[in-house]
Amino acid sequence: NADTWRALEDEYKIGKTTAIGVSNFQIEHLEALAKTQTIAPMVNQNFLNPSDNQQELVDYDKDHGMLNEAYSPLGTGKLVDLPQVVSLSEKYNKSVPQILIRWSLDKGFLPLPKSTHETYIKANADVFDFALTSAEIESLDSLTGVGGFHTDASSTDF
Ligand SMILES: NC(=O)c1ccc[n+]([C@@H]2O[C@H](COP(=O)([O-])OP(=O)(O)OC[C@H]3O[C@@H](n4cnc5c(N)ncnc54)[C@H](OP(=O)(O)O)[C@@H]3O)[C@@H](O)[C@H]2O)c1
Repeated sequence: NADTWRALEDEYKIGKTTAIGVSNFQIEHLEALAKTQTIAPMVNQNFLNPSDNQQELVDYDKDHGMLNEAYSPLGTGKLVDLPQVVSLSEKYNKSVPQILIRWSLDKGFLPLPKSTHETYIKANADVFDFALTSAEIESLDSLTGVGGFHTDASSTDF
């Protein structure tokens, strides 16, 4: 990681990129990198959705000036029909995926939903005319485990 990061720092220093970041880094990986980095990561992209909100990591990223980028905001599709989100979906007249993407934005994340369907891609971006209340955000925070958890980067061969 240290060698690869040094290459990214070089690209950043000569202006070839406007921001550099990491993905699937847990606190231990960020702390190891911090020993040699001359520029701190600006972004950490992770599996983040109500099923696994990785609160400790998210707080650490925020405290260290990193944007939390949320991949799999719909749990790789496992959360798109989540019954626990239907009442919010009806209240705001938005689909379950739109509620989940709004949750991600309201948590201060940058959500990265993926779809192969034009209608879904457009709908997933149509989330800027409402916001969830703190109580609603907390109710979604409590859905831990409904769609699985992040992969441990220390024990997985990506
Ligand atoms: N850094 C990493 O290690 C890492 C790992 C995983 C993913 N990512 C990134 O994160 C992006 C998104 O993650 P993801 O693909 O795992 O999961 P996701 O965005 O949570 O879910 C994608 C799934 O949800 C479906 N979907 C999307 N919008 C929908 C809607 N409005 N209504 C109903 N179904 C909907 C898609 O189906 P259809 O395609 O059939 O519409 C697809 O099956 C990826 O493109 C990738 O770039 C990064």
